[in-house]
Amino acid sequence: MKIIIINGPNLNLLGQREPEVYGSLSFDIFFNGLKRKYTTVELHYFQSNIEGEIIDKLQEVGFSYDGIILNAAAYTHTSIGIGDAVKAITTPVIEVHISNTFARETFRHQSFISPNAKGIIIGFGLKSYELALQSFL
Ligand code: DQA
Repeated sequence: MKIIIINGPNLNLLGQREPEVYGSLSFDIFFNGLKRKYTTVELHYFQSNIEGEIIDKLQEVGFSYDGIILNAAAYTHTSIGIGDAVKAITTPVIEVHISNTFARETFRHQSFISPNAKGIIIGFGLKSYELALQSFL
């Protein structure tokens, strides 16, 4: 089973960015833990701060991988392009968010990803990614 986690803008700063909202663990450490725990999965990771690079990656993996776990971060709320890419590909996408976006500013309540996601996992901290992974398994 081939799964990729795709993270959007500013998520490269996890661990140091607003730790009260996003926690104090770096994504690299978390991701290595996931890889060690789920040894039967071929788990990949991609992060970009650039909208077009996220679209390119979705197109690249979106017809061959078994699952995509996507946290498009702020682009979730703004990017019709990423939303369209999720619609265009055949690999199922699970949308995840670390924080409960519905408990935050109203501009975070809208998502251009959700209408075409297989499912949505929001607000469980980094555990959101693991829950998404388990749902693919
Ligand atoms: C986020 C929520 C977004 O609103 C925000 O822009 C992020 C992270 C989350 O995982 O909680 O960068 O996607």
